Amino acid sequence: MNKNDYDKIINRAIEIQKEWRTIPAPKRGELIRVFGNHLRQDIEVIGKAIMHDAKKIHAEAIGEVQEAIDMCDFAVGLSRQLYGLTIQSERPEHKLQEVYNPLGVVGVITAFNFPCAVWAWNHCLAMVCGNSVVWKGSPKASQVTKSCKEAWDSAVSECFFPDLKFKDLLQVVEGDKEQAEWMADDSRINLLSATGSTAMGKALAPRVSARMGKGLYELGGNNGMIVSEHANIDLAVRGIVFGAVGTAGQRCTTLRRLIVHNSVYDSLLEKLKSAYASLPVGDNFKEETLVGPLINQESADRMLSVLEQAKEKGYTVHGGEVVEGCTIRPAIVEASEQCDLIKTETFAPILYVLKYTDLDEAINIHNAVPQGLSSCIFTDNVQEAETFTSAVGSDCGIVNINIGPSGAEIGGAFGGEKDTGGGRESGSDAWKQYMRRSTVTINYGKSLPLAQGIKFGD
Ligand code: UN1
Repeated sequence: MNKNDYDKIINRAIEIQKEWRTIPAPKRGELIRVFGNHLRQDIEVIGKAIMHDAKKIHAEAIGEVQEAIDMCDFAVGLSRQLYGLTIQSERPEHKLQEVYNPLGVVGVITAFNFPCAVWAWNHCLAMVCGNSVVWKGSPKASQVTKSCKEAWDSAVSECFFPDLKFKDLLQVVEGDKEQAEWMADDSRINLLSATGSTAMGKALAPRVSARMGKGLYELGGNNGMIVSEHANIDLAVRGIVFGAVGTAGQRCTTLRRLIVHNSVYDSLLEKLKSAYASLPVGDNFKEETLVGPLINQESADRMLSVLEQAKEKGYTVHGGEVVEGCTIRPAIVEASEQCDLIKTETFAPILYVLKYTDLDEAINIHNAVPQGLSSCIFTDNVQEAETFTSAVGSDCGIVNINIGPSGAEIGGAFGGEKDTGGGRESGSDAWKQYMRRSTVTINYGKSLPLAQGIKFGD
């Protein structure tokens, strides 16, 4: 897309938002309710596009559309809330209030791996909050972007036919890095929400900051699991397998580091190796497949090169054989220390396994990576579990007990700390980022007392 077409899109987004912001929020929610129904109707169509573009297996592709539907339901409820506080004033006959108004234009940049759900996290909130959305989906997932836009257009037709102007509340920017940079530099975009690698976030964030813009970043993860001597090992194995090999290791929440208590290390590893050996790896369109191909050859080559480097370090590698093309068997790497290789996110199904002897050591290892998205501990010991969620525990935005690090529900805020970017999307009060908060002080008296008791000429 050229700059001229891009400019037209942004100007249209500004224009249509001016109308949308005057529509009462529950009425905006009504459009999202209808949109949710269209996603339900189109679940297989969008699911197939996700299978085609992101190479997910059917169950995970459908799960992703379901996540978008859940987001619609959540946003519909929210559209009758969007509430602010009323705060006591220190002055007589005064009142303080928080009022939330729409921000304006929300720019959304999404990655190939969750091409529908992550957009929906942003879109549904931005819409009920009274904004327009300009969406740059991943160029690797253009069929998904197209099918989501079609579902949106159908919902607008159902709600407003023959007046279809609100279709433009969602506009698509086609492009890649250059277009992302235009968005980052563009002060007409009131919030830029970007999901992708830490490198992408680090390239865009300074540009957004340079114009004092608002950014919401959901970037790389390097998610760990502690398996304690008090863990239910069979439960842990299930959590590990889904966490590490689901979506062929290409979730930002994928389990990448396993920190295992010495006393259960051998037995856990045996169970894991046999679970990995029986994994159906292959064509993601085949019903029996659980692990499909990686997104492209570059990704596959990177996985193989990282496994080579691990071998050179003397680590034991299980799995990692090429099945065909970009389809590679998930790998387990037994490592002696958490070296730089392990501290780097490789977007592929590589699970590093490390040993620990006491919980403090495990937490130290766990937190000693640049990323801070998702984390978990498997333990039936309440002291260990509570310690992990406390101030001295995990430093991540998502902290799970007896659940793997991936597959979060939409109801909670999603995101993480450090190199993950600090943003929070989807549930809880993430909506506040899509609104402008005004602190309103109302004087309903007949005098004008000043705050802090200041006397000024009286
Ligand atoms: C992502 O990989 O960018 O928690 C999002 C999960 C999904 C979302 C992942 N609900 O794994």
